[in-house]
Amino acid sequence: MPGVALVGIQWGDEGKGKVTDLLASDTDFVVRYQGGNNAGHTIVVGGERYALHLVPTGILYPHCTPVIGPGVVVNPQVLLEEMDALEQRGIDTTRLLVSGNAHLVMPYHLELDKVTERRLGKNRLGTTKRGIGPAYADKAARIGLRVQDLLDPDIFKEKLTVALKEKNLMLARVYGRLPLEQARIEEEYLAYGERLAPRIADTSTILHDALDAGRMVMFEGAQATMLDLDHGTYPFVTSSNPIAGGACPGAGVGPRDIDRVIGISKAYCTRVGSGPFPSEADPADADLLVEAGHEYGTTTGRKRRCGWFDAVAARYAARLNTLTELVLTKLDVLSVFSEIKVCVGYEFEGERYDTFPPNQTVFNKCRPVYETLEGWSEDITRVTDAADLPGAALAYLARLEQLVDTPVRWASVGAGREQMVRFPEGVGAPAGAGSGRPAL
Ligand code: IMP
Repeated sequence: MPGVALVGIQWGDEGKGKVTDLLASDTDFVVRYQGGNNAGHTIVVGGERYALHLVPTGILYPHCTPVIGPGVVVNPQVLLEEMDALEQRGIDTTRLLVSGNAHLVMPYHLELDKVTERRLGKNRLGTTKRGIGPAYADKAARIGLRVQDLLDPDIFKEKLTVALKEKNLMLARVYGRLPLEQARIEEEYLAYGERLAPRIADTSTILHDALDAGRMVMFEGAQATMLDLDHGTYPFVTSSNPIAGGACPGAGVGPRDIDRVIGISKAYCTRVGSGPFPSEADPADADLLVEAGHEYGTTTGRKRRCGWFDAVAARYAARLNTLTELVLTKLDVLSVFSEIKVCVGYEFEGERYDTFPPNQTVFNKCRPVYETLEGWSEDITRVTDAADLPGAALAYLARLEQLVDTPVRWASVGAGREQMVRFPEGVGAPAGAGSGRPAL
């Protein structure tokens, strides 16, 4: 099973880093296939905590080759700073490969992300202001600059001239900002290019060879399913495709290269930024989750919105990604509740929805239909054997497994590597488990 995709099935921040760590010993390549430095992966290796934004988590494992695929948008300044910071902590970054086809995040993208959010006012998306949306917009408009352009100063200058002419008009005339100076951008970016040159590679061919040789390639999704540009809660989404299928264009592989799709979800639910969130908890419960789960963003430090597990959205995500298995993180956080709610449907204008509503008005205005499950009060952070989990915790996991129709293989009970409970066969027997999906 050489191709494994790892995807968040909620609104991001599900704890994907923890699962990478779990699989790292068997993994040869870790590939980022979308997004940019809007992502935040927190990962604890050897007792050390790392917060990575752009560099794939594979960088932390000396036997892994980390790859930034063509579907990623790269801010070279951030990439180099992240590499320098890792080097300072003794992590070798010379294995990192960056696709020449990946697009560059340019200074005007950052500027435009900020001014458009400001202009949108109360309708703002709550972006990370890292220039991600504007960079993908230019890619689609075919005026983007790519990583490989850094290697050819003449081409770089020519493309920059075309793009900057339009951007400066926009910045000055629409937003009343000062135009950006071309010479400064050229100097800065070409210097980045010189430093990055040894890392720029034909990553698609490298991955094809690896997959053909049966080496294990992990496709590491950033953000998550509900933030997917096409399938998430548009317009409150990111500008790329975090779903597992996004690994095909984003890494340059075909659908049959992905054998296993692991969905990561918190045992409850969080979201940062604006947008609908039907299972958002009332303030008292949300505060308990923020406190117990330390729910602050890795990239922006923003307090996350917190709520109950949304089984309707999770089931939708399971189908979109063709999940083969589920990992539930932060189960220990729920120990603070005597009763735990699970959103099992939505209600809008007297109608009940058991599947994800295709109409955004319904999703925006619906009320959650909850099922209430018994909580447990025991501290479960030291449990490593499923048999030692309280009955109510097992029942909770089994119910989620059933609702999402996907076997739960792991539940995490703390940040440490060893704080994982394994369920080789799933927790219970989910109704219709494996229906039409590949067997493990
Ligand atoms: P952008 O990706 O910066 O354009 O932001 C678009 C939306 O995606 C906003 O709601 C962000 O808060 C959200 N978002 C982007 N990256 C992440 C992430 O890594 N975790 C959670 N939310 C994210």
